[in-house]
Amino acid sequence: MPLKADQIPSPPRENEPLQAATESAQTLALMAQRRSTKIAHFVEPGPAGEDLDALLTLAARVPDHGKLGPWRFVVIEGDARARAGIAIARAIENDDGVTDELLHSARSLFLRAPLCVMVVSSAAPHPKIPEWEQTLSSGAACFALLMAANAMGYAGAWITEWPTYDARARKALGLADHERIAGFIYIGSAREPLTERVRPDAKTRISRF
Ligand SMILES: Cc1cc2nc3c(=O)[nH]c(=O)nc-3n(C[C@H](O)[C@H](O)[C@H](O)COP(=O)(O)O)c2cc1C
Repeated sequence: MPLKADQIPSPPRENEPLQAATESAQTLALMAQRRSTKIAHFVEPGPAGEDLDALLTLAARVPDHGKLGPWRFVVIEGDARARAGIAIARAIENDDGVTDELLHSARSLFLRAPLCVMVVSSAAPHPKIPEWEQTLSSGAACFALLMAANAMGYAGAWITEWPTYDARARKALGLADHERIAGFIYIGSAREPLTERVRPDAKTRISRF
């Protein structure tokens, strides 16, 4: 059974004392075994209401140089999933060579899971904080959301796909010109269990200076 919002500790108040480290074997086990769900395997239920708000509050708790909060979350759930699909299909419907199949898949894109959170990077030039660091913070928000969803008992997947790289689709989804999509985080339950995938050998990525 997925956990509920009231099982997550409330966010601390500003200047409240906090631990620098908290031992958590369960967190380590989750990190050791986490796995994204295939997009074709999502089924109901997904989180909603205050449970989803609690998840997004956790995802917003990421390192962020300059306290800019250079990201925002757009929840695409319920009927909005079809509306968002129609919007991105309209953005490409007059393209040369567009097929009915392509338009159908655009319209159905967000219907593949109970909900999708579009994580938008609003990184922009700043006198002190490099844009690169703002962008990295939005990637951290994507991963935090994925991990928090798993820890709450939901399946998740971080996907980008073509709308991320199509300026017309981004506009149709409500992004400003300077904003980018860091990820579509699909969240729900998994129709079937997962198997492990090939992974980079961490040892080959580690060196000591
Ligand atoms: C920024 C980003 C974008 C991704 N976009 C896609 C995508 O469009 N389609 C896809 O199949 N997987 C995509 N992936 C990969 C999946 O999210 C996932 O990580 C992978 O398929 C399974 O690995 P995991 O179980 O370790 O998460 C993307 C990953 C990242 C970090």
